[in-house]
Amino acid sequence: MQISNYIYFFRYDTNESELCKLESRFIFDKEEKNKLLLSDVKAEPSSSAFIKKRLEIILFSEDYSTLIDKIQREKICAEGFKVEYLVLDGDKTAYAQRLEKLKDIGYCIEGNPEYYKPTITYALCCYGGIWCFGELVKNSFAWYKHKQKPYSYSNSINTNIAKALVNIAAKANKKKKLLDACCGVGTIMLEACFAGNNIEGCDINWKVCRQARENLSHFDYTTNVYRSDIKDISNRYDAAIIDLPYNLFSYADDDTTSHIIESTVEITDRLVIVSTSDIANLINNAGLTISDSCSVRKSGKTNFTRKIWVCEKNG
Ligand SMILES: C[S@@+](CC[C@H](N)C(=O)[O-])C[C@H]1O[C@@H](n2cnc3c(N)ncnc32)[C@H](O)[C@@H]1O
Repeated sequence: MQISNYIYFFRYDTNESELCKLESRFIFDKEEKNKLLLSDVKAEPSSSAFIKKRLEIILFSEDYSTLIDKIQREKICAEGFKVEYLVLDGDKTAYAQRLEKLKDIGYCIEGNPEYYKPTITYALCCYGGIWCFGELVKNSFAWYKHKQKPYSYSNSINTNIAKALVNIAAKANKKKKLLDACCGVGTIMLEACFAGNNIEGCDINWKVCRQARENLSHFDYTTNVYRSDIKDISNRYDAAIIDLPYNLFSYADDDTTSHIIESTVEITDRLVIVSTSDIANLINNAGLTISDSCSVRKSGKTNFTRKIWVCEKNG
């Protein structure tokens, strides 16, 4: 009997389902299904807007009492621990029985339990007939603080999309050097810095550059924001994110879009582009192949859809 190292639990609304699956493909190399995913890849829940929690499986067994024996033999000491029961699809265990099982585990652990501010949270669940016990890590949602950034615009990309773009660009590898090529006030950069990614930003507009720097320093993040046309950036990056201008506060026609994409291709082989229209022909003309894509509809606004294109340089 084999089981992966981690079980991930997801949450998202219907508008974001495609985006969550796209992010999953780049973090885990597979999609979540029914808001659940098993993987050997270790990802931090707080790096994503969609990963609600991660169970790191310590012990498992098809037989519940064998699992309890195994936990006892593990001789776990944890002051201030908590144990939760995670109900998965198909688990018919009644509420009273679930409480009994939590007690069984509590008795196996040396130390006092702490319900409200636990130092460590363990969890029990039954996945496809296999009882799993492990350490539970929840999304802290501490990144919600970025919603209070000093500067933002109504056209700024939302935080959930920003976090997904970073994960798609970096493929969950914190060492990858990223560029936010049209960084605006730095919405994407804030999420990258929070998650510990290596990112720099660039924007042609001096005012938004100053605001991006102030937003970053407000949360004590330090990185470079270049006031520059993207064509004048000469550093090389593992991947670039481009949230293209779309005629709201800055002018954008096909020539502008092509200029930005073609200039970015000069400094990276991998691009994650956000547009509000179908720009597949402009992407192909820039010598790129679209390897994946998805659409994200803005909630409440049926006719406003963003398109995300994951592109690789040809050859
Ligand atoms: C849609 S906005 C980006 C918004 C940003 N993601 C945020 O959350 O604030 C597009 C940005 O592209 C910038 N831009 C337009 N042409 C550019 C160029 N040639 N080089 C660099 N930035 C450019 C604009 O100044 C604008 O801030």
